[in-house]
Amino acid sequence: MATGKYPSGIAILYPLVKFRTIKIPIPITAVAKTSGVRLWTARTNAIAPRRYDLRLRPDLAACAFSGSAAVAVAVSVPTRHLVLNAAELAVDGSSVRFQDLVPSEVVLFEEDEILVIGFDQDLPIGEGVLKMDFTGTLNDQMRGFYRSKYEYKGESKNMAVTQFEAADARRCFPCWDEPSFKAKFKLTLEVPLELVALSNMPATKEEVHGPLKTVYYEESPLMSTYLVAIVVGLFDYVEGSTLEGTKVRVYAQVGKSNQGKFALDVAVKSLDLYKDYFATPYPLPKLDMVAIPDFAAGAMENYGLVTYRETALLYDELLSSASNKQQVAITVAHELAHQWFGNLVTMEWWTHLWLNEGFASWVSYLAVEALFPEWNNWTQFLDETTSGLRLDALAESHPIEVDINHASEIDAIFDSISYDKGASVIRMLQSYLGAERFQKALASYIKKYAYSNAKTEDLWAVLEDETGEPVKDLMTTWTKQQGYPVIYAKLDGRDLHLEQAQFLSDGSSGPGLWIVPITSCCGSYDAQKKFLLKGKTDKVHIDGQNAGGEKSENCWIKLNIDQTGFYRVKYDDELAAGLEKAIKAKKLSLMDKIGIVEDSYSLSVARKQTLTSLLRLLNAYRDESDYTVLSHVTSVCLGIDKISVDATPELCRNIKQLLINLLLSAAKTLGWDPKDGESHLDVMLRSLLLIALVKLGHEETINEGVRRFHIFLKDRKTNLLPPDTRKASYLAVMRTVTTSSRAGYDALLKIYRETAEAQEKSRVLGSLSSCPDKDIVLEALNFMLTDEVRNQDAFYVLGGISLEGREVAWEWLKENWDRVLKTWPSSSLISDFVKSTVSRFTTEEKAAEVSEFFAGKTKPSFERALKQSLERVRINARWIESIRSEPTLGQTVHELLQHEL
Ligand code: BES
Ligand code: ZN
Repeated sequence: MATGKYPSGIAILYPLVKFRTIKIPIPITAVAKTSGVRLWTARTNAIAPRRYDLRLRPDLAACAFSGSAAVAVAVSVPTRHLVLNAAELAVDGSSVRFQDLVPSEVVLFEEDEILVIGFDQDLPIGEGVLKMDFTGTLNDQMRGFYRSKYEYKGESKNMAVTQFEAADARRCFPCWDEPSFKAKFKLTLEVPLELVALSNMPATKEEVHGPLKTVYYEESPLMSTYLVAIVVGLFDYVEGSTLEGTKVRVYAQVGKSNQGKFALDVAVKSLDLYKDYFATPYPLPKLDMVAIPDFAAGAMENYGLVTYRETALLYDELLSSASNKQQVAITVAHELAHQWFGNLVTMEWWTHLWLNEGFASWVSYLAVEALFPEWNNWTQFLDETTSGLRLDALAESHPIEVDINHASEIDAIFDSISYDKGASVIRMLQSYLGAERFQKALASYIKKYAYSNAKTEDLWAVLEDETGEPVKDLMTTWTKQQGYPVIYAKLDGRDLHLEQAQFLSDGSSGPGLWIVPITSCCGSYDAQKKFLLKGKTDKVHIDGQNAGGEKSENCWIKLNIDQTGFYRVKYDDELAAGLEKAIKAKKLSLMDKIGIVEDSYSLSVARKQTLTSLLRLLNAYRDESDYTVLSHVTSVCLGIDKISVDATPELCRNIKQLLINLLLSAAKTLGWDPKDGESHLDVMLRSLLLIALVKLGHEETINEGVRRFHIFLKDRKTNLLPPDTRKASYLAVMRTVTTSSRAGYDALLKIYRETAEAQEKSRVLGSLSSCPDKDIVLEALNFMLTDEVRNQDAFYVLGGISLEGREVAWEWLKENWDRVLKTWPSSSLISDFVKSTVSRFTTEEKAAEVSEFFAGKTKPSFERALKQSLERVRINARWIESIRSEPTLGQTVHELLQHEL
């Protein structure tokens, strides 16, 4: 096989946007990026794959594989070239045939990941079979066909696993690797006899040949390449079945399959639920879910063979925390939702990725709400909305529907915009249209586009048809436009004046204009108003007794009831005061309490209101005891704490104390020890508050955490440190570790080395770098580079870096950049390195220094993360500047502290 220049006969097209030919010596065969020189997509209007017959032989010891493909291809326009995707594969040129035609050239363009097969004559119109043999390596990068390591009976073993989304099927076999090229897949695997070999479809036959077996699988229905999957290794499983009789299995490492029972139960129930919700049966004959020890993302929805990192699938009553449990349930529900939304109906192109991810995220809450009503899952959904709103307030955000001009840009859009904003605008639309109408329309959409592809507008069209509402006009303002509005609300007599402006955290206003579903209520939730704000301004007439002016605790007006809308509200002083009173008087719903504190925090960051007023508002939450609300209050407290050292060193201790006081009474009520029969959310709350108090430096909590840790060290089974409070204790230990007294750090490392449990390992890793001692932070970062830490787990260490360690972490990143980039090439992982080091800074100078370092080094995989992090630094710098000039901050902090005593 040659690599080199494009064959002269290839006509190059601009992709997707317009099929514009730049030179047409022969009929159209391939499309290229902007310049016409780079040929990066195999999209063509002449050729379509129909069916892949793939045979793969992984060699686990040698970390290599060989394979052969026979692809039935429909040729609809005369052409002499087949243009498909391949990367890091060696295609044996002499093996390539199209029917009995021998190609005149077989050229791989490594950089563009394109394989061109040229013939001396036109290929016959109609269906023909393209055959070829190829080899590749089982890489270490958690993408394509890769190896993952595990221990079995004290020995290190390799397993072979695939991860193809977004564009890595081409690293396993040559293919038309874009979501709209749906085809049927028939796989055959040749593997060692003793191993479990799984693929999307059930095995039909196994033949034994000496130490190897050949496993044949059923042919799949039409599906996209990124959903093809293979897993080969040693596993145990647990099995269940849906009401319809679909067999569901959870595979885990030998000896761990019992930890799959919880996920199995969630999976079986979710499949039944989705079948009803989408009014379409689960499309495949079986579903397998597998825990993979090395896994880049959290989980992957491969059709019929869903893969997970261990922490996202395995749950153990004794070893896992309540929050681990929730994570497993949400992840399973998310991936199974994809079996319909994503796998059966697939986005047409990556621009519409949010149709996959936003919907799966939203639907997962629906399922988990039904399975675990006591978790108050829809209130917890506001975590998603919050992350979406926080990211989308950056100028460096992007619209939900985003142009993708190169395969290398795809991975970076698996972000909070596609997931969290996507899911939130769906909730907004559902709440506008009504749950029942919405569900019916979704079911029609699934039916209409089953086994095929859809664009965002296709969904809007179905929803419009079914409901008669102007869905497209409404939703286009949210999906094609980046950002979201803040609604300024002012009361003028009985008129409530509303004005929208694009909200940006840097304090400026963008040009955006949205059609905003406004909801409001006044004094009670009984009478609610609902309308679409279409222009810049509008007003609502407030009737009833409860508008502003009067002094009763019923004088409150809340917009965006239960935060169903993806926007913020800035109330005038009078309305804000009314809401503060209503919070104290416990008149508001949990969701509204969350919305108010979140909006107020973001408005402070954007300098639309003072930190002083935010602290006063926080004081209204002092008696709060609900997990869902306190999780937001806590996150706001920690946000304030992070900048207060830089903003007002002289007040910083007092502010810390104030924040501690806010959380302390709820924390004291719960204590450290679990109580019989307490609710899931109280267990979550205990963990949340103890961690926050440790982070805020509350001495008593830190001492108690350290005390319990020492007992735990002697007796790992002690009831004094169950999984839910362990992280708080580990953090407490690390807050007291110094270079000279490092016994706690060493003890944590010992725990890390002794446990085989991924969730426990993640708890330790997330604590190691949280030490105030810079030398220890450095040690933790270097430990992360050793073989003892899986590459997939680096982000735990990064996420824990202490404020005191930010400078050392940045220096470390600069020194190790080349190695880091090579070891963690995937977008989400490399972006974690950039975000966690850069966004902790708060000065313009530092932002300039970071930009200078990265000048000439950026890549699509982390470019957006870098820009966003730099923007955050600059936003913090300005916020700090303005906090310094708040005239009454010191006095207010003092007063609030006094009030406490
Ligand atoms: N399709 C994604 C996995 C993925 C992410 C593939 C990024 C390629 C690039 C999967 O459905 C997913 O969204 N996983 C989430 C879990 C979830 C509960 C939101 C994840 O990995 O975090
Ligand atoms: Zn997903």
